[in-house]
Amino acid sequence: MRLSIGVIAVSVMLFLGALVGVYALHRENQALHAEVERLSHLVSERPVELSTFMTTYERFLTKLSLAGQAQNWPLAEFYHEELEETAEQLEKLNLTDDGIPVSTMMRPNLIEPLEAVKKAIEEKNPTAFDQSFKAVVQSCNNCHKAAGKPYIQFRMPEGTHPPQQIFTP
Ligand code: HEC
Repeated sequence: MRLSIGVIAVSVMLFLGALVGVYALHRENQALHAEVERLSHLVSERPVELSTFMTTYERFLTKLSLAGQAQNWPLAEFYHEELEETAEQLEKLNLTDDGIPVSTMMRPNLIEPLEAVKKAIEEKNPTAFDQSFKAVVQSCNNCHKAAGKPYIQFRMPEGTHPPQQIFTP
């Protein structure tokens, strides 16, 4: 008889313990749920705008060009890094735009061509900079063609002009 009272007491304690555990899990679940709601709300309010990334690329591309032409290698390195970082950000987002897998297209069309520019900057080589930079501009244009936007094109004039968008049809 004594034994069974003990068993009952232990069972009740175990049961209460389990109940507390389940309740804690339930609370945690609720908190997680609220967090997901909050984050989804943020994403739907501020969707990733591809053209915002592109405007940034155009800006960094221009500044990288001018720094390289002035042979200001520390400044060119700075803009190279900015361009590379923002390209990697878009790659990580796993974004598709009108069915075009833009994030997966970033590595071959921008991140990889930028590697030769980095090498030219490290070697402080203006000729290599010029050549590798032209290849990057070509890659921007290639990606626009591949993404169904062949009318977004940049030219790379000789001299001190930065790359410019072509507005004539
Ligand atoms: C992954 C392929 C890809 C690469 C690489 C790429 N773009 Fe784009 N770009 C696009 C797509 C797609 C659009 C159209 C965006 C839209 O529909 O809103 C676009 C749009 C643009 C626009 C129009 C938006 C604006 O702000 O005027 C500019 C400018 C631009 N890109 C510049 C560049 C430059 C400069 C580079 C190279 C440093 C580059 N892009 C590299 C895919 C790419």
